[in-house]
Amino acid sequence: MSQAPRRTVVVLAAGEGKRMKSALPKVLHPLLGRTLLGHVLVAAEAVEAEQTVVVVGHKAEQVRAHLAEVAPAAMPVLQAEQNGTGHAVRIALEAVADVAGTVVVLSGDAPLLRAETLAGLIEAHESGKRAATVMAAVVDDPTGLGRIVRDAGGGLARIVEHRDASDEVRAIKEINGGIYAFDAGALREALGKISTDNDQGEEYLTDVFALLVEVGSPVGVFVAPGAEETLGANDRAQLAELRALLRDRVNTAWMRSGVSILDPATTWIDVTVTLEPDAVIDQNSQLQGTSSVAAGAVVGPDTTLVDTSVAAGATVLRTHAIGAEIGPEATVGPFSFLRPGTKLARKSKIGGFVEAKNAELGEGAKVPHLSYVGDASIGAKANIGAGTIFANYDGVNKSRTTVGEAAFVGSDTVLIAPVEVGPGAYVAAGSAIAKDVPSGSLGVTRAPQRNVEGWTARRRAGTVSAEAAERAARETGEVSEAE
Ligand code: UD1
Ligand code: CA
Repeated sequence: MSQAPRRTVVVLAAGEGKRMKSALPKVLHPLLGRTLLGHVLVAAEAVEAEQTVVVVGHKAEQVRAHLAEVAPAAMPVLQAEQNGTGHAVRIALEAVADVAGTVVVLSGDAPLLRAETLAGLIEAHESGKRAATVMAAVVDDPTGLGRIVRDAGGGLARIVEHRDASDEVRAIKEINGGIYAFDAGALREALGKISTDNDQGEEYLTDVFALLVEVGSPVGVFVAPGAEETLGANDRAQLAELRALLRDRVNTAWMRSGVSILDPATTWIDVTVTLEPDAVIDQNSQLQGTSSVAAGAVVGPDTTLVDTSVAAGATVLRTHAIGAEIGPEATVGPFSFLRPGTKLARKSKIGGFVEAKNAELGEGAKVPHLSYVGDASIGAKANIGAGTIFANYDGVNKSRTTVGEAAFVGSDTVLIAPVEVGPGAYVAAGSAIAKDVPSGSLGVTRAPQRNVEGWTARRRAGTVSAEAAERAARETGEVSEAE
C-alpha cells in the first residue's frame, strides 16, 4: 500500500514591499480577482499539503484577516522582524509541531505560478529523492535576483544574491525563482547552519543549497516552462506587467474554449469569472468577481460587470453593472448603471441612461430611456416612459413601487413610493403619482393647460422668438397683438 506523500507548504509573506510605496501590504494588492497572496494560495492547492503555513510580519493583522477570509485552513505564523527568507522558513518550521516529507516554499508576491508547474517541481524533487530543488528561470534582465551557479557537470553548485555576486556571476541569466521543494529533515538541519555573512546581514534561504552540496546531499534545478511564472511584483510598474501577463493568459484560455474576445489587449477578466462558448466580449470591457456570461450573449464595448450574470443571448452595451442578473435575451444600454438587486427577466429592456437598483423587470418589460428605477417590481410587458423616476426615498425610509403587468407609464412621471400601478393601468405623461392607480384605470395628476395668447410679443418684444411669432402670424393671416 502506498501512502500519500507528506507535504507542508510555507508561503513567505512577511515583507513590507517597500517599493510599492503603499499603505496596503504588498501581498494584498489585487490582481484580476485575487490578491497576490490569494493567487499563490490557489496554486498551492496543487501541493495537496497536510498544512499550509503563511509567514506574516509587516501589517500582520491585515494579512491574517485576509487569510481568514480566503484560506481559513492556512496557519499564519508571525515573523516579528524580517531577518531574511531563511529566518522566515526557520520560524515557520519551529511553529509547526510535525513537519515531515516535502516542504514547499512559495513567495507570497509571485502570483503567476501555475498549479501544473508547481506539481512538476514537486514531482521532479520527490521522484529524484533530492534534499532540495529550486525553480529557476532564464530571463533577459536578471538584475536584483539570485543567480543559479552551476558546477562543471551542469549540477547546481550554489545560489548567489545579486548584491553579493561578482561580475562573472552577475552575467548569468539563469535566476532563482524563489520557489522551492525541500526534504524537511535536510532543510531543518541546513537552516541551523546558515549565517548572516552577506551584504544584507540576513539569513538567506538560498544558502541552504551550498550547505547541502557541501555534505553531498542531492540537490537539483527545475527550470520553469515560462519565466513569468516566477516573477514577483516589487513595485507598481512590475505589478502592471504581471497584470497584463495574467490578462493575456486568461483571455487566451477563454478564446481557446470558444469565447470571442474581440480585443484581448483591452479586455480584463478576473480569474474568478465564468464564460460559456459563443459568448462575445467586445473591447474595453472588465469582467470582475463572480460575473458570468452565457452562450450567445454580447458584452461591451466599454462595459464593466461586477458580480453580474448575463444569460444566453443578452446584450449589454456600454454599461456599468454591479450585482445584477441580466436574463436571457435581455438588452441593456448604452450608458446605463445597474446596481445590486437588479433582476431582468427574459427579453426585458433597460435602454440608454437608466439607473436601476433593487429593481425587478418582468418578461418583456421595458425601461427604454433616461430613468431611475429604485426599489421596484415591474410586471411583464409593462412600459416605462422616458424620464420616469421611481422616487423611492423620502429622506428617511426607502419604499417600493409595483407596476403591474402590461401597465403603461407615460414619460416624465414620478412614482412616489410606496405606490402601486395596477395591471393594464395607464399613467399620463408628466404625472406625480402618490396614490395607487387601480388596474385598468388612467392615473393623471397634471394641472390643466392654459395658453396666454400674444404673450411673446408683449413680454419678449424684439427677440428672435417674437420675430418668429410675428412671421407665423402673418403667414396664417392673424394680426399680432402688438400691432
Ligand atoms: C529572493 C531570493 C532570490 C530570488 C528572489 C526571487 C533570497 C535570499 N533571495 O530575493 O534569490 O531570486 O527571491 O523573487 O531568498 N520574506 C519574508 N521574511 C523575510 C524576508 C522575506 O517573509 O524576512 C518574504 C517576502 O515578503 C517575499 C519573499 O519572502 O514574499 C521574498 O523576499 P524578498 O525580499 O522579495 O527576496 P528577494 O530579495 O526578492
Ligand atoms: Ca522579491
